Amino acid sequence: MNIQEHISLKEYNTFGMHVYAKRFVSVSSFFALKNILEKEKEVYIISGGSNILLTKDISCLVIHIDIKGISIDKEEENYIYLTVNAGEHWHDFVNWCIAQNYGGLENLSLIPGYVGTAPIQNIGAYGVEVKDAITKVEGIDIKSGKRVSFSNTACNFGYRNSIFKQKLKNKVVITAVSFKLTKTKHVINSSYGAIESELKKKNIVNPSIKDISEAVISIRKSKLPDPKKIGNSGSFFKNPVIAITKYEALQKQFPKIPSYPISENEVKVPAGWLIENIGYKGKNYGTYGVHEKQALVLVNYGDASGKDIYRLAQEIQKEVEKKFGIHLEMEVNIL
Ligand code: EPU
Repeated sequence: MNIQEHISLKEYNTFGMHVYAKRFVSVSSFFALKNILEKEKEVYIISGGSNILLTKDISCLVIHIDIKGISIDKEEENYIYLTVNAGEHWHDFVNWCIAQNYGGLENLSLIPGYVGTAPIQNIGAYGVEVKDAITKVEGIDIKSGKRVSFSNTACNFGYRNSIFKQKLKNKVVITAVSFKLTKTKHVINSSYGAIESELKKKNIVNPSIKDISEAVISIRKSKLPDPKKIGNSGSFFKNPVIAITKYEALQKQFPKIPSYPISENEVKVPAGWLIENIGYKGKNYGTYGVHEKQALVLVNYGDASGKDIYRLAQEIQKEVEKKFGIHLEMEVNIL
């Protein structure tokens, strides 16, 4: 086991925060990870680093999950069952699925991060959430070093939420995720407005899973900054869910405020709209700011610190609260 000292984590987080790990190790197998967890008292797990904002150096052992591999568990006429190790890059896995003609994840193309982190925040985009395809999540209990396994129901998935973000936060390391995908009769999900217009532009009437993936990639590229070029963690806040009564009251004051139905009594309001309407879209503070094409994304233009971004996020929360009486919950994990 190769524990390195004083390692910059800049390459290990998509915000590109230049903080240091006092001790750092990259693990490539379940048993290497189990071994380390049995010995170490306190650890910080990093995988794709696409949903974290690092505001300080880390003094405990940082473990980078680099466990790779895809295996086929079972095949039926219409379905394939796969188990994918946590260290696989999400988008590479999605591309592999499309090349094999396995359907279900194409709407989730180009999402940064690793397979192992996808269930934590139940990644979602363009009408699909990863929970729709997950059958099982496996991991190690950090304290006991024991193997643990969760069925889809046991994961308690919700909008950008799961048991791994709540009760089991920092308690379990995910090592593998199992999926059920379609081999034939793919369920094409093209109802999201932006996908529809992208397909129309290309004159595609009966889209394949590859067409959907390509449409999603082109929408994402046009709106969201590439973390390899501009540091970011995707949506920084969740879209808030509010009572319809509150929404109707706001509508009187702000007739254009958009909403999506959630239940009989609640609607979801796009946080991007709220942030744009307090005048923060495209705000540039030199080294950091709010993305010019999508106000929900905070960006690091180069040398910003995690504290700069965190301060900006708190300021946005305060201003949105003041103008709309809505609390924006941060979606990104702050350290
Ligand atoms: N909007 C604005 N101004 C903005 C951005 C958005 O007014 O600057 C309003 C518009 O009304 C627009 C609506 O918000 O029609 C929705 O915008 P968009 O389609 O970009 O989606 P979103 O709700 O802002 C969510 C996810 C994204 C995901 C997209 C597409 C969350 C927190 N974010 O964003 O996920 O890609 O839908 O499905 O739910 C991520 O989690 O990192 C992420 C990028």
